[in-house]
Amino acid sequence: MTEQKPVTEAQATAVPKVPTLPDAQTVTEVQHYTDRLFSFKCTRPATLRFRSGEFVMIGLMGDPDPKTGKQKPLLRAYSIASPSWDEELEFYSIKVQDGPLTSKLQHIKPGDEIILRPKPVGTLVHDALLPGKRIWFFATGTGFAPFASLLREPQTYEDYDEVIITHTCREAGELTYGRNIIDSLKDDELLNEVIGEGFWKKIKYYPTTTREESAKMGRITDLINSGEAYKDLGVEPLCPQNDRAMICGNLAFNLELKDMLEAAGLEEGANSKPAQYVVEKAFLD
Ligand code: A2P
Repeated sequence: MTEQKPVTEAQATAVPKVPTLPDAQTVTEVQHYTDRLFSFKCTRPATLRFRSGEFVMIGLMGDPDPKTGKQKPLLRAYSIASPSWDEELEFYSIKVQDGPLTSKLQHIKPGDEIILRPKPVGTLVHDALLPGKRIWFFATGTGFAPFASLLREPQTYEDYDEVIITHTCREAGELTYGRNIIDSLKDDELLNEVIGEGFWKKIKYYPTTTREESAKMGRITDLINSGEAYKDLGVEPLCPQNDRAMICGNLAFNLELKDMLEAAGLEEGANSKPAQYVVEKAFLD
């Protein structure tokens, strides 16, 4: 690729660009939340089908090789944060100042191109879970992304009576993206019509912070172990008969929560063998 030239929104809409990247998609919207987090939307390939909760490889061209001058795509796995029915694709990303990809990706603007390999995969899908009454979505940081998709997926509400989403972040500002998604569901006319008026009342949202003061402080793992989370939410403790769970966060969190779910009697499921919970790590730079 040649160095990406900034393209203004007006230019982008006025002149259809000839794609310069392989598997190119055009960025349509970018939103920054903190100095560590941003989200963006891009066009969706007409042929791309995916299940809410899956991820794809996305990225940019890397710097030219100093010797050969050749450039290679720099790709990372990103959960698709938009639901399967959406016309556009949405992603939620961390910004790492010296990260090979996100140090560049954080500067994208509407009209720029990204690379998107249209091969969605993942375990955080409804197909990997047996029927249950309640579903728990456990997230830390950008691990909220697949749940941003699943919270806007009608099947989530068809399959379960209750949807509990927990999100643990270091600072309060890191909760904004998730909170905005959940707030937007109340006024989403299409979803209220398709899923049923007031479907969002099934959601119990439990945001917590660990390094900055907020309404609820502490790691979700500690809050569950102490019973405080159950009390705050007004729900019964996790049990294999009623509960299903999906986990997406940093590695230590995923492992700890996995152990807790196993101890509560839940078994890990997969696409080929549905069971009671599924786990995926957030793919960080
Ligand atoms: P803490 O601040 O106590 O480390 P990160 O930004 O490092 O990925 O972390 C995101 C959030 O996940 C932080 O609030 C962090 O809490 C929390 N966290 C990290 N490890 C664990 C774990 N093993 N169990 C629960 N929460 C964790």
